[in-house]
Amino acid sequence: MKHLLKLEDWSSEEILNTLDLADKLKYEQKNGIEHKVLKGKTLGMIFEKSSTRTRVSFEVGMTQLGGYPLFLSSNDLQIGRGEPVQDTARVLSRFIDGIMIRTFEQSEVEALAEYGSIPIINGLTDYCHPCQILADLMTIREFKGKLEGLKMSFIGDGNNMMNSLIVGALRTGMSISVACPEGYDPPQRIIDFGKQFGDKFEICRNPLDAAKNADVICTDVWASMGQEQEQKIREKAFKGYQVNDELMAVANEGCMVQHCLPAHRGEEITAEVFEAHADEIFEEAENRLHAQKAVLVKCFTE
Ligand code: CP
Ligand code: NVA
Repeated sequence: MKHLLKLEDWSSEEILNTLDLADKLKYEQKNGIEHKVLKGKTLGMIFEKSSTRTRVSFEVGMTQLGGYPLFLSSNDLQIGRGEPVQDTARVLSRFIDGIMIRTFEQSEVEALAEYGSIPIINGLTDYCHPCQILADLMTIREFKGKLEGLKMSFIGDGNNMMNSLIVGALRTGMSISVACPEGYDPPQRIIDFGKQFGDKFEICRNPLDAAKNADVICTDVWASMGQEQEQKIREKAFKGYQVNDELMAVANEGCMVQHCLPAHRGEEITAEVFEAHADEIFEEAENRLHAQKAVLVKCFTE
């Protein structure tokens, strides 16, 4: 049994093994080869925030692996009425075989793991989005043929996506330069993580500095789920932190673009750049399915 609470908890080897398994599962699915290793297993999927990709990829992935996905909205669970997560963890551990949770506080995910006795998978918190980053790394490797030695750039907010991309890129031998406005840097624990990798990690204020010679440019919304009331303030703060033609011009030739979606065209990315890189972005979305199946197999069977 294994948890995926945050990407920092998984070694380079575990991440790369997961990507290899995801590639294999993708190949098998495309070729009609069944892989029902989770037959008879139930995954509870707790959602305290909205989702399209995470919900559908886990639900379809669990089904393809022969298991049963159980969608649990916090609007309906007692957790939404204040039942402690510690109790929910102990109850659900007696009914089901694993939990995927999307919520606000990272501490809630950690508490589920501490009090439960089944694998816990983080489907996004305010702090991180490890499942998405495994799909991103899978996609970059698919398009570029490697990860080691590539330069990633992230333009925008020091949010869950930036945090997990910093960990994922550095753990797989990439360098990463991020550009965020003052006051929107990633949290200190992520900066400390990055510093262990010397000049492979850099925080810039000017997006053009971060994007220079990039092999892949990533971005995400300026206001994440739960920050809707800050939309106007953030539109001002992030003005200029946009993936557009001017930014793409300083990157390496053939530079990819990744966006976890949903995207706000005209804010963090222009419609032109989005459409020019739509193949990469929607392959990234598809790879949520394959990467999430790999995470499920690893967490349930190792
Ligand atoms: N990228 C992502 O996690 O999408 P959803 O919010 O639709 O799950
Ligand atoms: N940073 C975004 C990612 C959505 C998948 C959010 O948390 O809303």
